Amino acid sequence: MKSYTPRPPHDSSPYVIAHRGISSKAPENTIASFSLAVGTSGIDMVELDVRLSRDEEVIVLHDRTLQRTTTGNGPARKYDLAELRAFDAGSWFEASFSRERIPTLRQVLGMLRGKRWVDIELKSDLFHREPTGLLERKTLEVVREMEMLDQVLFSSFDHALMASLRKIEPNALTGVIYNMYRDFGRLPSKLADRVGASVFVCSKYEFTERMLRDAHQHALAVYVYTLNDSANVKKMMDLGVDGIISDAADEIVPIVKQINSPR
Ligand code: G3P
Ligand code: MG
Repeated sequence: MKSYTPRPPHDSSPYVIAHRGISSKAPENTIASFSLAVGTSGIDMVELDVRLSRDEEVIVLHDRTLQRTTTGNGPARKYDLAELRAFDAGSWFEASFSRERIPTLRQVLGMLRGKRWVDIELKSDLFHREPTGLLERKTLEVVREMEMLDQVLFSSFDHALMASLRKIEPNALTGVIYNMYRDFGRLPSKLADRVGASVFVCSKYEFTERMLRDAHQHALAVYVYTLNDSANVKKMMDLGVDGIISDAADEIVPIVKQINSPR
C-alpha cells in the first residue's frame, strides 16, 4: 500500500474517511465497525479515537466515560484493560453486537495494516489531563511497533499534543482539529504552523471558504466532518476539500467516485 500523503493527487477525488469506522451501521470504534470499513472498497482512511486505560494501554474509545457506548460506568482511565474488556461495547447500538469489546489500538492497527490509512485522534479531556507526553509516547510506541508510521495521521483538538508528538517523532504527520470556541478568528495556517501540522480538520458547521483558501495557500490539507449526506458531500467536493469524514463512508464512496470534481 502507498504511503499516506495529506493531500490527494491534484486530479483525483477527496479522501473518504470512515469516522469511528462505519459507525452508522455498527457500534463506533469497534472491530465490527472497522471490519465494515476494511470490507468497503474506496474507503481511503479510518478515523478512530484513542485514550489510556489505568494500566496505560492505548484503547480505542471516544468518550472519557464508559456509559454511553458500553455496559461500564465512569471514566475508562479508572479501569485496567482486562476490566474494560469485560464490558459489552455493542449492545447500546444493537443487541446483535453484544460480543463487541473496547479494542486496543494495537488490535485495530493489526486489522488495518496494509489495507487502510489511519487517522488516530488523540483525546484529551479539559479537566482530566494526562501527564505531559504520556498519551503521545504510548500511541507512538504502538504505531512504531506495528511499523505503520507511514500509514498514519495523528490528530487532536489539543494542538499541544501534536507539537509534543512531532518532537518525539519528527516524521509523524499531524492534524489540528478546529475548536470554534477556542480558535475563533484564527486561520488554519496559524494553527497548523505553530505545531508543525499538515492537515486542518473542522466540522461542516465551522468550515468557511476563507479557511480553505488560507489552508491551500499554505499547502495544508482540509478534512471536514461529519458529512453523511450527498448534498453536503457534493458541496464540499465542489469547493475542493481534501478529505470527507463520514459516519456512512460506505454510502459516500459512490458519490465521491462518481463526481469528477475539479480540484
Ligand atoms: O476527526 C474529526 C472528529 O473525529 C472530531 O470529533 O468528537 O467525533 O472525535 P469527534
Ligand atoms: Mg474523533
